[in-house]
Amino acid sequence: MKDLVPIFPHLLAFFNVSTVILLIFGVVAIKNENLKKHKRFMLMAVVVAILFLIVYTLYHMEVGNVAFAGEGKIRWFYFGLLIAHVVGAVFILFMVPMTLFRALKSNFVAHKSLAKKTLPLWLLVSVSGFIVYFMAFHIWPSKPATQIVQLLVGG
Ligand code: HEM
Repeated sequence: MKDLVPIFPHLLAFFNVSTVILLIFGVVAIKNENLKKHKRFMLMAVVVAILFLIVYTLYHMEVGNVAFAGEGKIRWFYFGLLIAHVVGAVFILFMVPMTLFRALKSNFVAHKSLAKKTLPLWLLVSVSGFIVYFMAFHIWPSKPATQIVQLLVGG
């Protein structure tokens, strides 16, 4: 499993992008009154979210926190975005199952009214997740905390 850890951030970013695409396809489907496609795309987005949570937990159990190497004002932007991302993620952790269960119980009026809040927040969390990943792993890459500890203790 340890060998896979370096690819986890990229996998998580892939899940974020996939979520955005699936949610957009799902909304387009219901706007076109195609319930079958809407259901299929939204259930796929939920499966991707579950995979995301599993990989996210494994990654952070292994690596701990990831240091951000950017300096100056960009740190304010990065940590502001990261806080918004984490707070939003906590909300959607409850909102997505509630939105889904309302639909699965055929309570579509209640489903639609909650879904109109869940959807933009879910998109925001997925897009901000990708931006945070891109900043921390591509523009200002740094070594994960455990690697820094290993370097310091000579492991
Ligand atoms: C968590 C997953 C889901 C999300 C985020 C979601 C999102 C949405 C959104 C945003 C709308 C309103 C679109 C508009 O602006 O007109 C909607 C409508 C609808 N959704 Fe979902 N959906 C999900 C799962 C499902 C599932 C699994 C079903 C089927 C069992 C379903 C059935 C419907 C129906 C029938 C409507 C139309 C309601 C109406 O216009 O009265 N949705 N959904």
